[in-house]
Amino acid sequence: MNENRKNLKPKPKRQKRVTLFTGPGCIWCVKAKNFFKKHKIKFNEIDVTKNKKAADDCKKHTGGGGIPVILIENRWIAGFNENLIKTVFGNPIKIGEKEIIGLVGESGSGKSTVARILSKKLGLPIYNISEVVRKEELYSEFDERRDAFIVDIEKLENFFEDKKDFIAEGLVAHYIPSDILVILRVNPEKISERLAERGYSEEKIKENEEAERFAVIATEAIENPKAKRILHIDTTNRTPEEIVELILKGLSGEEVFEEIDWLE
Ligand SMILES: Nc1ncnc2c1ncn2[C@@H]1O[C@H](COP(=O)(O)OP(=O)(O)OP(=O)(O)O)[C@@H](O)[C@H]1O
Ligand SMILES: [Mg+2]
Repeated sequence: MNENRKNLKPKPKRQKRVTLFTGPGCIWCVKAKNFFKKHKIKFNEIDVTKNKKAADDCKKHTGGGGIPVILIENRWIAGFNENLIKTVFGNPIKIGEKEIIGLVGESGSGKSTVARILSKKLGLPIYNISEVVRKEELYSEFDERRDAFIVDIEKLENFFEDKKDFIAEGLVAHYIPSDILVILRVNPEKISERLAERGYSEEKIKENEEAERFAVIATEAIENPKAKRILHIDTTNRTPEEIVELILKGLSGEEVFEEIDWLE
């Protein structure tokens, strides 16, 4: 075979390195092992009861929540969670390539709350977009009436251009090209309750409640998609943990796009 042709052959893909930290009498460790065996994924197993350094490493990276601990490349995962493993292992998102998850929704929809849990699970850092916009001065002007900066989309895009592997959460997260954009929806009445608790003015509460009722952000995000995939979730009767589980399902390849219409 001549040299040129040889170069055309795709490189065989290397399997991501997996290490399983286990111990005796641990049912979830066995489940994790069976999962990897079933999917023909090779792994190293380390018994933390016989390896002090490994036990310390696990504690350091996961905060010490027990076993199993699963290390995929450089990502430490506490416990065994099938959707989470599928996501981190690479279906459809792959470590090493850009991995960007956007979380968008109206004010009070739960973006920051969900981002915190998801960040811990996936080992990805969070960018709170309003914070980034303020700190990095990614705005064009200040809107006095709304008491808010007007985001300069181009500056925002430039800021994120060379970043990879992160969660971006905020009212304009849909402006960032992401692998997956999660749109969090919530019954407008809940938005009112939550913003009242925060001491927002009547006017501001009303404005935000209306925005959710008329799906302002969701429509913007769905009609002008910059993400490869979109998840659309009604969070109203779900705990933040349940929402994260659903997002993990979406990340692992399942379709998660719920019918939501508050005007019905
Ligand atoms: N699924 C949920 N169930 C119950 N309460 C929730 C849920 N998600 C968020 N909350 C609560 O609602 C409030 C608003 O949540 P959060 O701050 O995460 O919203 P946000 O979308 O980040 O808002 P903002 O755009 O103003 O930053 C918080 O008090 C939070 O604890
Ligand atoms: Mg927030």
